[in-house]
Amino acid sequence: MGEKFGTSGPRALITGITSQDGAYLASLLLDKGYRVTGTLRPGGTMLNRAWRLETMGLAGRVTTVTVDLTDARAVSWLLDDHAPDEVYHLSAHSSVHSSFHIPAETFASNAVATTNLLEVIRTRHPRTRFYHASTSEMFGEAPEVPQTEKTLFRPRSPYAVAKVAAHQMTTLYRIAYGLFCVNGILFNHESPLRGPEFVTAKIVRGLVRWQAGLEDAPMALGRLDARRDWGFAGDYVRGMWSMLQAEGPDDYVLASGRTWSVRDFVSLTANALDMRLLWQGEGVGEVAIELDSGRTCVTVDPALFRPAEVGELRGDSSRARERLDWTPRVDLPELVAMMVAAEKVRQGLA
Ligand code: GDD
Repeated sequence: MGEKFGTSGPRALITGITSQDGAYLASLLLDKGYRVTGTLRPGGTMLNRAWRLETMGLAGRVTTVTVDLTDARAVSWLLDDHAPDEVYHLSAHSSVHSSFHIPAETFASNAVATTNLLEVIRTRHPRTRFYHASTSEMFGEAPEVPQTEKTLFRPRSPYAVAKVAAHQMTTLYRIAYGLFCVNGILFNHESPLRGPEFVTAKIVRGLVRWQAGLEDAPMALGRLDARRDWGFAGDYVRGMWSMLQAEGPDDYVLASGRTWSVRDFVSLTANALDMRLLWQGEGVGEVAIELDSGRTCVTVDPALFRPAEVGELRGDSSRARERLDWTPRVDLPELVAMMVAAEKVRQGLA
């Protein structure tokens, strides 16, 4: 990587290209004829960064640049060098759980980096269209269900507070300077490329390995009652692109409109594996027992609870459906089946 590919077609810059969404979006944009450059953050090895691009067959088809987006001068050079028509700003500290341990770093990655990009666009590249990866997590202890673009934010994590700041900054640059800046308020979205620090990938990996006899101990989870609106990342990156093709800039919720609990997600995964589960007990004493073996395969560990939890998130994506003609195509049981199949391959079981 490091070389530019293609000499025509619009230019897109994806910050955080090695993330789940970065890989799906790069694939979509390449199919549409874009020239794609992506940023990587300094540090880390190529091995644990490039696997998603390799899985999607994209290694060698995109240009990559290592850059610290919290450094304003580096951001200025980046945009001058690549002169993108569209910037998709996906790079962020994305784990809500770990943001409680590194709040300042989370704020810099999520809020300061966004401000740097907006400021360079304002001063040097005002025709560049800008997408900011906002999130349902900003709603926090939401005053209403479902949540729309108009719902008040009551963030409940350092991650969410930083995302609210970046979201508001993006809106401000649209209002104050007339720039084409949009916020995509995406509800949880998963795929076979999801990292195991997130609950869906952790559950799929845990139960696939359990069934194959690769795990002795039960899988420990945090809050089983937390409810999320889960969709497929491949559907959500289509929405990102559509937001930047619209006539004017605005903010859009992307969501399935349905919620499931973490417990439901465990049960769906067990179904996909033809495992029969029995839930027993309550609170921190709740367990799932595999009926065929009589063994406990899921327990609750309060150490995995967050200092402040977001109970239920459910999105209303009417605006995106009406104005962008966006609809999700993959439902949660299909998504779980997709994740289970990919995990079996990853574990050498299929
Ligand atoms: N990670 C994790 N691990 N979460 C657990 C666990 C566990 O063992 N047990 C229960 N949970 C619960 C969490 O408490 C949370 O309520 C829910 O599962 C989902 O957690 P995550 O998968 O970590 O995702 P998230 O909702 O906190 O955040 C994700 O979605 C946001 C909205 O799109 C991330 O992708 C964020 O970056 C994103 O903004």
